Amino acid sequence: MIDEIEQTSHTENQIVPAWYAIAAGSAVVWRKPIGVKRFGEAFVLWRADDGRVVCMPDRCSHRSAALSAGKLRDGCLECPYHGLRFDSAGRCVLIPANGVGAPVPPGFALPTISVREEHGIVWLWRGAGEPARDVPWIPGASEPGSGSAEYWYDLNVPYLRIVENLLDFHHFPILHKTMLPGIGTRMDEMDAHVEDGILVFSATMRYEKPGALKQDTPMKAWFALPSVALIEFGGFYVNYFLTPIDDERCWIYARYRSPKAGGLLGTALGKIAARYDRAIFIFQDRHALLSQADLPGDFSKFKLYPADRALALFFGMRQQAILEANRRETVGSSDAAAAAG
Ligand code: FES
Ligand SMILES: [Fe+2]
Repeated sequence: MIDEIEQTSHTENQIVPAWYAIAAGSAVVWRKPIGVKRFGEAFVLWRADDGRVVCMPDRCSHRSAALSAGKLRDGCLECPYHGLRFDSAGRCVLIPANGVGAPVPPGFALPTISVREEHGIVWLWRGAGEPARDVPWIPGASEPGSGSAEYWYDLNVPYLRIVENLLDFHHFPILHKTMLPGIGTRMDEMDAHVEDGILVFSATMRYEKPGALKQDTPMKAWFALPSVALIEFGGFYVNYFLTPIDDERCWIYARYRSPKAGGLLGTALGKIAARYDRAIFIFQDRHALLSQADLPGDFSKFKLYPADRALALFFGMRQQAILEANRRETVGSSDAAAAAG
């Protein structure tokens, strides 16, 4: 198995074509637009009168001011600089300096970028080809609302580095010894396999010498491309959705649900767990992740061992998805060339 892992070398840093979580649905309120940066691009998100989430480049067509600092008026987005107004189809409907009712010259429209709002998350398609039918979702993952808590933040660590980190449990008893005490170091009864496109990973973390406070810790997790995880740990189901902000930073959306506590108590416990989880990332993972010398996603110089199996499998799935997308694109463009010729 080690051979199988070691052969999995990944030097690409391309994006898996997929729907990516770019914002919490609850963050796109009725009253005002929000700005998000994802994949190195700035987007403005706002809610049209019919409730739909509208996504546009966060750049006014006039003189490039950020529209996310603007206001919503009469079902349109208004630029804060000179007051140009854009409707939910991206048309510029008013240039105040030209006078109300003056026709708007062509060329002021903004492109609208198609997004979906599902499971309480706003999703953006990224990658070549037609958008996939479904957003990536792990069956059994928690929906928003009563009993679950959502939390999101930016982390100044590269995206793939965090994807690698989520697939790794055996750092818990070492790096998180102080913040997550009581976990054994030896990974036993490990299983990692792919089922209906989802990587299922389970293990028991054991102490070499069990004691009263040294119990076995069972772990179970599910991972879906491009970067969705559901982890059962510490009495919670934790759902993560990761999206690059740019080459150096990553956006994390997380949802916490405790199967034992529902309703308001579940939400309150989830909120506490979320803050603690973020503190662990920032105080412990972040430093280790930023210290890694090799490029994120490049396994060519790593020496892996069996506990890294889920990591190797998932990055294999990633590589496969990217290769298939590239192949489809090549076939598509040669078909188009043949048709043209
Ligand atoms: S820059 Fe937006 S109205 Fe002038
Ligand atoms: Fe960690």
